[in-house]
Amino acid sequence: MKTIAVYHNKGGVGKTTLTVNLAASFSRKGYRVLLIDLDSQANSTYATGLIKFHDELQDDIKENYVYHVIRERNAYFIPDVVKQSKFTDPPFDVVPSHIDLMQHEKELIEIAPARTRLFSKLQRDAGAYDIVIIDTPPSLNIYSQIALIAADYLLIPSDLKPFANEGLRNIQNFIAETNEFREQIGQDSLQILGIVPSKIATAHRFVEFVLPRMEETVRGRYGFPVLKSRIFERRDVSAAIERTLEVGEIDIPDPQSIFDYKPDSQAAEEFEALTQEVMQLAGI
Ligand SMILES: Nc1ncnc2c1ncn2[C@@H]1O[C@H](COP(=O)(O)OP(=O)(O)O)[C@@H](O)[C@H]1O
Ligand SMILES: [Mg+2]
Repeated sequence: MKTIAVYHNKGGVGKTTLTVNLAASFSRKGYRVLLIDLDSQANSTYATGLIKFHDELQDDIKENYVYHVIRERNAYFIPDVVKQSKFTDPPFDVVPSHIDLMQHEKELIEIAPARTRLFSKLQRDAGAYDIVIIDTPPSLNIYSQIALIAADYLLIPSDLKPFANEGLRNIQNFIAETNEFREQIGQDSLQILGIVPSKIATAHRFVEFVLPRMEETVRGRYGFPVLKSRIFERRDVSAAIERTLEVGEIDIPDPQSIFDYKPDSQAAEEFEALTQEVMQLAGI
């Protein structure tokens, strides 16, 4: 089992989009995939089509989601909490998140072993999955720390803009802190696969002249490796996730992976190249 966390402390850089499409890509290659949503915005949960209810009274996630996995030591193991996502075919498993996760932060910070519970529970059921991908919140909070403790590898999607770059210093410190924690539980340091250029503008001159300099800045100034694959900003990518299905009078979310939505698109090709590179870097 290989566990990959997808993290940046800046929001809107394409973490969730990358997470769900990477999960789909691995699932389509025949790997047994688990996606874990650790963001209280629950965007991955939404994007993998698990929010089918229109009325909060039908909310089937609130009583059984990632919060319970973290809070309880002897209950809410991964198989008890996963839901199956038909975001692609074959389907894959998701440990969902919920907007309520936000209000549990203080409570979980008080429980010292809570930080390693996801890690322990993943080890317990490690035989069930080949690849685990964890989506994280855009902050330096306990949930992203839990993700970085549970993961073997880290991918950092970034639009490479100044704010995202400034955030990299925080990420460096955060990784160092997390590594101290990992050491205490006998885990090796987190392996940084690198920065994935994400939501990149497609203008020809930009890609030819500006983008390589931006990538070089990140390498030189912050010392992070940058992947060769680039995820460009393409309408198909967001349209696939924003898809809805008209059922009677209402539209219900019916997101699809880019590979299902437009298999022959440039975007699908770019996500396939990213998958290949991640496989090579992580020895999958
Ligand atoms: N490669 C892309 N091309 C076009 N739109 C994208 C792409 N990646 C993300 N987006 C859009 O940008 C917004 C933020 O992406 P998201 O994946 O939710 O970022 P994050 O998880 O980092 O906050 C969403 O509306 C999403 O549809
Ligand atoms: Mg997100």
